[in-house]
Amino acid sequence: MEYYGNSKTPQGASKATTRLRTFTSDTKISLQMSRLRSYESPLKKKYDVGKYDLAENYVFQESMQELIPKSTPEYVDKGEHYVERIMRALHHFKQCALIGPSGTGKTHIVYLVAEIAGLPLWEINCGLQTTSFDLFGRYVGLGKENWVDGQIVSWCRNGGILYLDEANMMKQDVATRLNPLLDTRGHIVLNEKDNEIIPRHPRGFVVISMNPFSIEFAGTKPLNAAFRRRMNAWITFDYLSTGANVNKDEVVLIRERGGVSKKVALQMVNVAAQLRYNYKRGEIPYAPSVGDIINWAKLVSDGTGVLDAAEETIISTTSDDMTTQETVRRIVKSAVEHGSGQAPIQEIG
Ligand SMILES: Nc1ncnc2c1ncn2[C@@H]1O[C@H](COP(=O)(O)OP(=O)(O)OP(=O)(O)O)[C@@H](O)[C@H]1O
Ligand SMILES: [Mg+2]
Repeated sequence: MEYYGNSKTPQGASKATTRLRTFTSDTKISLQMSRLRSYESPLKKKYDVGKYDLAENYVFQESMQELIPKSTPEYVDKGEHYVERIMRALHHFKQCALIGPSGTGKTHIVYLVAEIAGLPLWEINCGLQTTSFDLFGRYVGLGKENWVDGQIVSWCRNGGILYLDEANMMKQDVATRLNPLLDTRGHIVLNEKDNEIIPRHPRGFVVISMNPFSIEFAGTKPLNAAFRRRMNAWITFDYLSTGANVNKDEVVLIRERGGVSKKVALQMVNVAAQLRYNYKRGEIPYAPSVGDIINWAKLVSDGTGVLDAAEETIISTTSDDMTTQETVRRIVKSAVEHGSGQAPIQEIG
């Protein structure tokens, strides 16, 4: 079995080979370990996070290499230094929480941080009906004789970043089992496997993300209190542009990634900013993310009219409900009529 890692080796040596011994039950296996030269992502400089080496001395299985994200698009912020703050929190506390409305780039930034750090990413959406079997593991085979680790257990043994998306939607039984993992005990107990205790890997980081719990955010739940206490750092995300505050970097991003003119990009961001305002007030169920506006822009740059392209993208993504769609359509039309000027912010309702 070949293992690859990214820990430091003596200067000039790009790859040093070490033989390690490990024991599984009563079998002694000799493993071939390969240590690669320290991983230095060029993105570290760009996001000014050179001093955090989360993967220092980390050696992992070659098969986990594919869990390290690649080519994550640029992340833009308004000077909040989100990448640096997440890496700092992980460096000091090994875990942190990201909180913010839907589409503010929480998932995007976790991918970026994993890529910059050179760490495998284990992503779990807690809102989906993921079973305890998927997360912790199960016996398989005709006689149920072979144990297969679930995702959380694999992360616990191997390290990397465990990303729990929509953490407030997590089922209570799963949250309870994660508690010892997230506090000073730092282990998980596999009661389905003779109470095996698996210590958290020294390079095992946790990021949770969620939408803020408030009456304005339909469908959100408060985070389980025990879970909340265990998170050492909370980082709050928001849209680049909301209401009358239109951020010029968001316009540039849409122009560059969507391939439209500055004028059209500005119109689109105006629309998105208005819809985000309505979403935050609980008037519509969803508001466009940067990604949604980019999709809209791509259709326009391909020759589709601004309104037609909006139908297929931001109008339909907001809701299935015809009345809501009509509201969004009205806002799009009003922004288009105002050219690149900001239409007056409208309240719905
Ligand atoms: N600041 C940003 N810079 C670049 N792209 C962004 C930014 N914010 C959001 N995006 C893009 O917008 C889309 C939505 O982002 P993402 O899925 O990360 O949001 P989220 O906060 O995780 O939403 P949810 O709470 O619904 O899971 C993605 O395509 C992402 O690349
Ligand atoms: Mg997300």
